[in-house]
Amino acid sequence: MSKNNGLSTDTLLAQAMHYLDPVDGGIVPGVQMATTYARDLDYEPRAPGISYGRDKNPTYLIAERVLAELEGAAGALLFSSGLAGAAALFHTLKPGDHVVAPVIMYHGLRDWLMQFCETWKVDIDYFDATVDGALESAIKAGCTRLVWIETPANPTWDVTDIAAAAKLAHGAGARLAVDSTVATPLLTRPLELGADFVFHSATKYLNGHSDVIAGVLAARKDDEQWQAVRFQRAFGGAILGPMEAWLLLRGMRTLHLRIQRACESAMAIARRLESHGRVSRVLYPGLESHPGHGIARRQMQGGFSGMMSILVDGDGPATRAVATRTRVFVPATSLGGVESLIEHRATVEGPNSPVAPNLLRLSVGIENVADLIADLEQALDG
Ligand SMILES: Cc1ncc(COP(=O)(O)O)c(C=O)c1O
Repeated sequence: MSKNNGLSTDTLLAQAMHYLDPVDGGIVPGVQMATTYARDLDYEPRAPGISYGRDKNPTYLIAERVLAELEGAAGALLFSSGLAGAAALFHTLKPGDHVVAPVIMYHGLRDWLMQFCETWKVDIDYFDATVDGALESAIKAGCTRLVWIETPANPTWDVTDIAAAAKLAHGAGARLAVDSTVATPLLTRPLELGADFVFHSATKYLNGHSDVIAGVLAARKDDEQWQAVRFQRAFGGAILGPMEAWLLLRGMRTLHLRIQRACESAMAIARRLESHGRVSRVLYPGLESHPGHGIARRQMQGGFSGMMSILVDGDGPATRAVATRTRVFVPATSLGGVESLIEHRATVEGPNSPVAPNLLRLSVGIENVADLIADLEQALDG
């Protein structure tokens, strides 16, 4: 368990809202809905720096403080979605800059990035995270400005060695950004491993209740590029609403408990499905059979997340039919909520998807694990 200011992350999370209201002592902060803030007699903002809600809001400042502490970051910024946060970072690049990204990554960001690079004349090269030396070959010394990795990566859960990637990026004069949505700040701390930026779709585990769309970027150093990200948020305007920030804070109070349960259940399900007759392969970094298991053991602490995929012994339609037969797993996209979800990923990603047609993605929630296993078995056997 990592320590923040002498306190464990569990304590930090459980008391994530415990900033006593200075007026009434309420142990949960109110939601500050104001868009604008009165100045004092010297015409200074009454609370330092807070004058207009598009730049700073007291409710999301609390959430950002908790997130920065969790990641050991110099600062954290919330956005109106995960993609808005990623876009803010990529918008700090200039035409002619070179970026590197994985072949397998969250498909929405992959599609956006392709278009962005074309429009903004940013060069991009992709690497296969499962091939030794592929990242090193994709990086161009002196040209590459940003290396983006996702670990574990949707939906095959490829694992990238963050410390090694940071070394390669820095050696070429580039920065490393890590999409750590699936690992959460509890299982992996990318900034401690040398990354410059860590990114989460807070829509997933951080909020955990499938009722908020949000994103967060955190930085190891408060430098020029981080100030450029801050500028993008303030003037691009992709801010998180105060109510959503409050819900996110409330969700984060139980992150450690939800993650622990999801990791335990996912491991039990993965082991069980490995020997199921209709499953040809289980992709879960916690299994010794996963190609990224060795690195995952080194850089993930406390579990391997609640995300896995299974390859069904059957074609696309037969595989998709399995996802329609579950009664506990909900057939829906997204991940990291308290409820378990099942998804036929190739259908969701569309015709250009590189995902195998017999792949089902599972997001394991916090229900009773015996119910989850029985549900999957009856759907596979059906
Ligand atoms: C790994 C990962 N990164 C980024 C995103 C995008 O986040 P959002 O949907 O909050 O914009 C997602 C969404 O599914 C994701 O799974």
